[in-house]
Amino acid sequence: MPDQIDLFNLSEVKDTAPPADFNPDLIPTDVKVPIPSGTYPTLDPIPDHCNRCHRCDLGATRTHAVVGRGNPKADIMIVGEGPGQNEDETGIPFIGKAGQLLEKILESVKLSSQDDVYISNVVKCRPPNNRTPTTDEMEACKPYLMEQIRLVDPKIILLTGATAVKGITGDKRGITKIRGEWLEWDNRLCMPIFHPAYLLRNQSREKGGPKWLMWQDIQAVRAKLDEIRGSGA
Ligand code: URA
Repeated sequence: MPDQIDLFNLSEVKDTAPPADFNPDLIPTDVKVPIPSGTYPTLDPIPDHCNRCHRCDLGATRTHAVVGRGNPKADIMIVGEGPGQNEDETGIPFIGKAGQLLEKILESVKLSSQDDVYISNVVKCRPPNNRTPTTDEMEACKPYLMEQIRLVDPKIILLTGATAVKGITGDKRGITKIRGEWLEWDNRLCMPIFHPAYLLRNQSREKGGPKWLMWQDIQAVRAKLDEIRGSGA
């Protein structure tokens, strides 16, 4: 394995260019070997690598790694927690009930999940019994997500639930504390929002309830997107 380690220890790897001798077969799936920014020239090789990845124990129990869907050049990226059963079976993120609700939320402000957003997760493999991914699992998987963010280059990132917030920004506050407020992370605008699965468990639409708050948040996202697009940024 020394070749593999040398290849991925190139300290001079540029932020946006892959190493000159980029060889997808040598992408490390062992957590001890880093995956630096610039490793992937496009999103295309990532699913194959995630399907071969054993950077954490979730690789042992997955059916499919679940990497992303939507427009790879979208202005909005949505980051969830991790695949559930439907996602593990199909390899497609947010395809189950929570995903269907997410589609409705997007549609309510005329956002298309095919054109306007790219959807991914903090961890690409399903945690057994849908438990919350551990900090180690999130860290092991993080380089894939960082590469996705770099390559999609979204103007806005929606972080669905506290795990997505923690996985990306390290902020451990509860989602009810931080939802609806713009955060700046990595020079990008991020909005923590409730996870759609939480809304499925809390159906009340009354003012101040989770669904009402989500409606406020998604409207704020739509307004910010219009503002950014209008300003040509
Ligand atoms: N919940 C998530 O966080 N991600 C999915 O892909 C599906 C459900």
